[in-house]
Amino acid sequence: MGKTVKVSGTVTVPGDKSISHRAVMLASMAEGQSRIQGFLPAEDTLRTVGMMIAMGVGVQEVSPTEIRIRGRGMRAFEEPQDVIDAGNSGTTMRIGAGILSAQPFVTIVSGDPYLRRRPMGRIVRPLTRMGAVITGRKENTLPPLCIRGGTLRGVRYEMPVASAQVKSSILLAGLYADSPVTVVEPLPSRDHTERMLLSMGARVVQEGKEVTVYPAERLHPLSMAIPADISSASFFLVLAASVPGAILRVPGVGVNPRRTGLISVLRRMGADIQFESPREEGGEPVADIVVHGRGLGPTQVAPEEVPALIDEVPALCVAAAMAEGRTEIRGAAELRVKESDRIGAMVKELSTLGVSCGEYPDGLWVKGPARITRGQRVESYGDHRIAMSLMVLSAASCVPVKISDTACIATSFPGFPEMLQEVAR
Ligand code: S3P
Repeated sequence: MGKTVKVSGTVTVPGDKSISHRAVMLASMAEGQSRIQGFLPAEDTLRTVGMMIAMGVGVQEVSPTEIRIRGRGMRAFEEPQDVIDAGNSGTTMRIGAGILSAQPFVTIVSGDPYLRRRPMGRIVRPLTRMGAVITGRKENTLPPLCIRGGTLRGVRYEMPVASAQVKSSILLAGLYADSPVTVVEPLPSRDHTERMLLSMGARVVQEGKEVTVYPAERLHPLSMAIPADISSASFFLVLAASVPGAILRVPGVGVNPRRTGLISVLRRMGADIQFESPREEGGEPVADIVVHGRGLGPTQVAPEEVPALIDEVPALCVAAAMAEGRTEIRGAAELRVKESDRIGAMVKELSTLGVSCGEYPDGLWVKGPARITRGQRVESYGDHRIAMSLMVLSAASCVPVKISDTACIATSFPGFPEMLQEVAR
């Protein structure tokens, strides 16, 4: 019999990436000082900090995870003196563009080679309809973007794909518009922006698939503790759920129902996952998550489930590889335009490791239980979530795997490899 892994302990994962980005942007727009605890100090979120500093915002680091932001108010930003470098961060560029579209100056935003390949037409189109002038490569669809902001008008915008980044970008621009802005979503995406805007005194109304934001004069500062990131926790949840006998606790995780799709799917696959001490922090539901590992079975993931687990599909592929049977995920074409083509990347690398799997234009299938081939070299495609998923598969199956470029993990989860080593022995 091969070696088996023992998974146990408590793992405290860093603050939520989506909420950290938003906290920095919104606090910068507020009047007065905001206090943010549980901030994620990773490459992506520090890009957002850099963008706001370039616009004249004062950011004070109390500790790596606690920052104070002296907001400039909504209408007193300075024109950045140089190109803003969003690095690998789509959130910085897309949501940031909503704020920049309303400023009476010109901003140029670029990023690393991966970000420069990602579609921006999805924000350029609605923000242009509102009155911003945005140009970019390839008919204004690719970065760098040059944004000339100005007076904006209210719109009603039906999003062709569910995207919290696009929705948030339009909502933030809408705060500056001459009349309300309504965004219609095909499926519900994460609603952190809406929750935070409400807590800052903005008028935001959610009705079915529509969310409307009303023009605002000012925003109140924030004082909040950001919960642990469920997307970061998911690598450990998958590890523990797939290893029989595992017992793992992840405290203080944000369990906003628009983010917990992976947990529903893992439970359907037979996982024992409990939420302990459910509470609310900073307007977000939070719980301690406890997983008892046991064998998993296969499942079908339907298109309507995808937005609530969009960033967790690479991790879910690992659970599927460890499970007994064929798992299929459909309606996930968006994964092709994330930090990498995550469908192509996972199918290619799982295949290299000897896992039976295949792709569809909008998804993939994986058949387990996998017997991972020893000593293979696999690629991360510079994508943090691909790198972490492959590391979890290696740990769960107790087979060493060489992964190219794991430095990208620092975009969302510095310290992940060490934490993985601590809980999987
Ligand atoms: C995010 C939304 C999602 C997600 C991304 C972060 C956000 O992207 O994949 O990692 O913070 O709003 P889309 O909105 O493009 O689906």
